[in-house]
Amino acid sequence: MPLVTTTEMFEKAYEGGYAIGAFNVNNMEIIQGITEAAQEEKSPVILQVSAGARKYANHTYLMKLIEAAVIETDVPVALHLDHGDTFEICKTCIDGGFTSVMIDGSHHSFDENIQLTKQVVEYAHENGVVVEGELGRLAGIEDDVNVSDVDASFTNPDQVEEFVERTGVDSLAIAIGTSHGAFKFKGEPRLRFDILKEVQKRLPGFPIVLHGASSVTPEHVETINKYGGNISNAKGVPESMLREAASMAVCKINIDSDIRLAMTAAVRKQIAENPTQFDPRQFLSPARETLKQIVKHKMVNVLGSHGKV
Ligand code: G3H
Ligand code: 13P
Ligand code: ZN
Repeated sequence: MPLVTTTEMFEKAYEGGYAIGAFNVNNMEIIQGITEAAQEEKSPVILQVSAGARKYANHTYLMKLIEAAVIETDVPVALHLDHGDTFEICKTCIDGGFTSVMIDGSHHSFDENIQLTKQVVEYAHENGVVVEGELGRLAGIEDDVNVSDVDASFTNPDQVEEFVERTGVDSLAIAIGTSHGAFKFKGEPRLRFDILKEVQKRLPGFPIVLHGASSVTPEHVETINKYGGNISNAKGVPESMLREAASMAVCKINIDSDIRLAMTAAVRKQIAENPTQFDPRQFLSPARETLKQIVKHKMVNVLGSHGKV
């Protein structure tokens, strides 16, 4: 099945009270693990590529790997640019075969964010590509942009209708308390479901996106710590909260850190327990398998996207 946009995925997800997982990809093992999980769970899936991933793996290599994955898979797959921060990177990805782009203007003023997002939407829509915008700022690190806890600002529901109307975006990322990375909460995890409810009321039927939505699997944290790592303060978004968000207007849930943790746990364990091995396939195989299992778990127990093709 060729790459698709997210339009139909989101319509069905909104109706059905579930969400589509958007997983970050950087190399062959990650692409294989995610798409094999989607195939086995009969789940639509979004593969997303950050500017950092394009720098690491090279646009052409990523496109060819994804092309191969799509040939091997018969579930709907969308290819999305994660956190595009300029018109130019969005245009390059639109011209280069992506079916969806994010223009992240969240660090600009409201009006500048609208202008930039609208420019991307016009070009994307002319080319059959859909666009995700962002309103409100997440705490933590977004690609090269460093937003401190103090500066973090939740999405203002009073602004969402005007933003969507003036830009023409197809989906909207909002800030309700999640953040990127493996250290999301210092105390008890708390999400502003009141803001999500308000946004949903102002934009009925419109797909909302949740960034920074890794749960930071305790088992993987323990394994990393056991085999020489030190990430004891890691804390993610409880799965029950993600389930609740998915049953509301949230149609896309972004997950990267959980994949990183799964792979790192598997690699550390394999190398520590097998000091005489030196064939990379011997640690990349369990890494790919472990990330595949976590993606399957998300689809079935968190997103609810299994069996929805
Ligand atoms: O939100 C950012 C994603 O986790 C991608 O991270 O920029 O290190 O590839 P990256
Ligand atoms: P996590 O760091 O919580 O996995 O979030 C990833 C993300 O939002 C990518 O855009
Ligand atoms: Zn993000």
